Amino acid sequence: MKKQLLFPDYPHILHGGDYNPDQWLDTPEIIDDDFRLMELSHCGVFSVGIFSWTQLEPEEGKFTFDWLDDILDRCAKHGKKVFLATPTGARPPWMAKKYPECRRVTADGRRDEYQMRHNLCFSSELVRQKTEIIDAKLARRYGNHPAVLGWHISNELSGECFCPLCLARFYKFLEKKYHTVDELNRRIWSGFWSHRYTSFDEINPRDPAMEAIVVDWKRFNAEQIRDYLAFEKSVIRRYSGKPVTTNMMGLHTEIDYFRLAPECDFIADDCYPMWYLGEEKKVGARFSMLHDLHYSMQQKPFVMMESAPGVPNFRPYAHLRRPGELQREMLLAIGHGADGTMYFQWRKSRGGFEKFHGAVVGHDNSEDNLTFQQVADYGAHLSKLDCIAGSPRKIDAALIWDWDNSWALDKGDYTHNFKEVHPFFLRHYKALWESNFSLGVVESTGDFSPYRVLVAPMLFMVKSGIREKLEAFVRNGGTLIVTQMFGYVNEDSLCYRPADLTPLTGVEVLDYDCMEPTRTQSALFNGKVVKITEAAELLRNHSAEVLATYQEDFYAGTPAVTRHALGQGSVYYLAANFEDEFLQEFYFDALTKAGIAPQLENLPSNVKCAVREGENERYLFLYNFGENEETFPVPAAYDLWNDRTVDGKLTLAPRGSTVLRIK
Ligand code: GLA
Ligand code: ZN
Repeated sequence: MKKQLLFPDYPHILHGGDYNPDQWLDTPEIIDDDFRLMELSHCGVFSVGIFSWTQLEPEEGKFTFDWLDDILDRCAKHGKKVFLATPTGARPPWMAKKYPECRRVTADGRRDEYQMRHNLCFSSELVRQKTEIIDAKLARRYGNHPAVLGWHISNELSGECFCPLCLARFYKFLEKKYHTVDELNRRIWSGFWSHRYTSFDEINPRDPAMEAIVVDWKRFNAEQIRDYLAFEKSVIRRYSGKPVTTNMMGLHTEIDYFRLAPECDFIADDCYPMWYLGEEKKVGARFSMLHDLHYSMQQKPFVMMESAPGVPNFRPYAHLRRPGELQREMLLAIGHGADGTMYFQWRKSRGGFEKFHGAVVGHDNSEDNLTFQQVADYGAHLSKLDCIAGSPRKIDAALIWDWDNSWALDKGDYTHNFKEVHPFFLRHYKALWESNFSLGVVESTGDFSPYRVLVAPMLFMVKSGIREKLEAFVRNGGTLIVTQMFGYVNEDSLCYRPADLTPLTGVEVLDYDCMEPTRTQSALFNGKVVKITEAAELLRNHSAEVLATYQEDFYAGTPAVTRHALGQGSVYYLAANFEDEFLQEFYFDALTKAGIAPQLENLPSNVKCAVREGENERYLFLYNFGENEETFPVPAAYDLWNDRTVDGKLTLAPRGSTVLRIK
């Protein structure tokens, strides 16, 4: 398959991290040490200036760029590359004091005092003016600097503001969407509890009675962030054509990152797995899923912009990384499509909130500590993977994830006791991941054309046109797997009639039965009894084949799993919350029937794989998520990481990982 290099002039897997020399200007010898240690750690790319507004503009209108000139010139001289940040992730105190409107207003109407970061009001014209001035100066001065690889807009853009300016923009957003207040009333069922509005500004976005409005407020916030990101990008674009991105935060519950993705020239994400709490495989599955999401967003490699080289300060336990863990975490990202693994942070600050956050260089300022050595060891191997930079992935099956679906479930008040979509989604992803299928994550309004199988875990909100879109996908030979709570509401959180979805699923959900922790249900599938906890839906079958039936209680004998043949394809309905073992077996069967094979078979249960496709070869990444050494069969290959030929058998140490090239 054809390469898609993110940086054609820098065809490497990126390695480096957030670098804040602006905090060390009084101790130039430390900056000298940085450049010495960069070589020793094999780090080559740095995100510079993320929180440097007060170093760039210490007083309003007074700018100091000499320190940044010096850092960028030194980077260029040493062959280091930089993602230059716009500094809007944290505003200067002088701004907060002089212009209260830049400070956000909380949900209870209080103007925030000066504190912390990630807190500019995105609606304020003043904020936009100040942003424009500093961004334009940076872009004009450094837009074509040889060290600058791309732009890092702000930092972890997030949050909400209830100031009058933001509320006014929200009402405009509603007006654009619904045109008239009558149309809004009709669509969101505002007659309930006498909520019929006579003008948009009567609407309270915090009012839980109108779930559709609460979801619209979340959508509005995503639009606010997108708009601000697009604004910063447009300022950069006046002077610099280099790629622009912003760092996302995985499945952050409040931000619809699909709305931000089109503004980014490449996707960047921050990743902080906690390997030591709970099952390591579960953590492995979760982060594989996040990487799959970031690859799928643009169907091309992305950059893991942040990860912890050592122990983050905010963790419940300061658990040192075990041997092999850092390498495995980084290779996990690369195997799933990352073309860069970067850290927060290069050097530990001496003061402030994050002074004990793990960093490549610690307070000892030496190459002797454990973290530095783990990073340097990983970095020393990394150039062996340069041949992989830009290599795509081949993905046949994708899971559907919609942020507004998760909000509708989360913000609505249901008797259903099982509506937590995050863990449910992850369990279904993991059931597929366990069998080593190559997976993607797509939104329901996204492009289904790359995929042959779609899995929609708890897709409660089916937006207008999506039923038909899914139906066309299936009729053309696709396989669709939907689960409990499929299609209860439309995009305005209005309930469908159960039969509205029947043309697709062949069944109708008449009721749901939720189970308190002391009660379970079961189903009979392929002659085996399968355990069900928490929730089971009662189906009326119209035209589906029944694959499993409930075994207990008064609805024993009614369908629990069905398959509906439709056109060239089929739709499976999983009507209950089934145990993991069943899910794994079920998905394996369904994908095999759809003609999709795992990327590699016969691996031990603790060993997982990922594949990047080269032009004439494949790169097979292997990971041991267990604490025991594992030996298993692999195709004849060359072990790129360890420089040796592998003849049909591979051994991985506990937490081991490697990369094989297969011709
Ligand atoms: C986030 C931020 C960083 C830093 C790290 C700490 O990802 O972007 O600035 O605070 O968390 O883990
Ligand atoms: Zn505001």
